[in-house]
Amino acid sequence: TLDPHQPVWLFGYGSLIYKADFPFLERRPATIQGWTRRFWQGSHDHRGTPELPGRVVTLIESPGTACVGMAYRITPDTFGHLDHREKNGYLRFQTTMTFADNQQAEGLVYIATADNAAFLGESDEKAIAEHIARSHGPSGSNRDYLLQLADALRQLEASDEHVFAIEKYLRETNQ
Ligand code: BEZ
Repeated sequence: TLDPHQPVWLFGYGSLIYKADFPFLERRPATIQGWTRRFWQGSHDHRGTPELPGRVVTLIESPGTACVGMAYRITPDTFGHLDHREKNGYLRFQTTMTFADNQQAEGLVYIATADNAAFLGESDEKAIAEHIARSHGPSGSNRDYLLQLADALRQLEASDEHVFAIEKYLRETNQ
């Protein structure tokens, strides 16, 4: 459990990189080791619907790989808000994050694992792009989610072959 008075770091690797609609004390680009971003989680409530779920990112274990994201220092009560926003199968775990100046901190990250009901799993990147092109939900189009994430990753100078490959297919798809 979290000490209600002790701020904590939260590592964001998906929409949290570009959309921080919660109060935070500090925000810093960061990386975590051993994980990679994949569009393998279904979204019933944000970028799709229960009948036609969209595809959003989760983290998959990948030894030797670094994942670039954005870390936020927040007060623990902010998690109440985030736990609501991030329902749909995500759980939190603790990890070490490294900042640009090589400083490290412990923090929390939300992931959706293969055992959650909304998990969709692996598919080839062209099929994922086609899926994203036709998906829409209460938070907007799945296409905008991907394009905003790709833009945010470019701003962080992050290399992410999976996201950029899907972006390329999506930009070739007229829908
Ligand atoms: C993230 O950006 O880290 C994130 C966003 C939504 C759900 C889980 C994680």
